Amino acid sequence: MSVFETVRELKSFRECRDETIPRKIIGKVLEAGRQGPSPGNVQSIEFVVVEDEDKLDMLSDSVNDGRVEDVPTAVIVIADVERMRRRVGDQCYSFCNAEAAMTVQNMRLTAQEEGISSCWITGFDEDLVADQFEIPGGKTPLGVLIFGYTDNPTESPSRFGLNEICFYDTYGNQVDSVFDGFEWGGLREEREVYGKKVQGLTDKVRRKVRKFL
Ligand SMILES: Cc1cc2nc3c(=O)[nH]c(=O)nc-3n(C[C@H](O)[C@H](O)[C@H](O)COP(=O)(O)O)c2cc1C
Repeated sequence: MSVFETVRELKSFRECRDETIPRKIIGKVLEAGRQGPSPGNVQSIEFVVVEDEDKLDMLSDSVNDGRVEDVPTAVIVIADVERMRRRVGDQCYSFCNAEAAMTVQNMRLTAQEEGISSCWITGFDEDLVADQFEIPGGKTPLGVLIFGYTDNPTESPSRFGLNEICFYDTYGNQVDSVFDGFEWGGLREEREVYGKKVQGLTDKVRRKVRKFL
């Protein structure tokens, strides 16, 4: 499966089977995370892998929507914020979050390729998790990445069309929905403006843009 196909398949799962994920696969997923990029190569990200049922129950109590309850494996993604602070100063939190995001996406794509669904959860009690899992001061849990085998993958919520979020050369300069023969996804010919559907806006822009091509 190509990276692009894996990206297209990637969805945040809502329910999973009662099936253990082999350690070998978890290892591969963690290795994919370790290979992620890092600002100044500070490498601020660390993991706590949680498989023990009691520990998963405990983690579940700290996560807002109780999504951890039935999963076989969860990974608490932690950032060494103080180490990042020494390198980048006050921007340390945003840099750690950016590093975590790229790490997590590497892990999710690798898991997906192995037939395992995942979901990145940031709605949780940070202090409680730090306390329960004995995370040292200066290190912050940024999120919980859950994994599981799903029978019924949920439909992803729709995305804005590329013609709505992508511009060329200048912000607002929309381009045609077809790019060199590649059909862009999620296109909407109608746009919602203050709750009303407005037709033909994209056609109008398209005609304008074509004049310059
Ligand atoms: C930064 C971030 C935080 C998220 N936090 C949560 C969360 O706390 N709980 C949850 O169920 N999903 C969470 N998600 C998953 C989103 O809800 C999900 O990606 C979105 O609904 C789109 O669905 P899809 O991933 O299936 O396409 C988060 C995603 C991101 C990128």
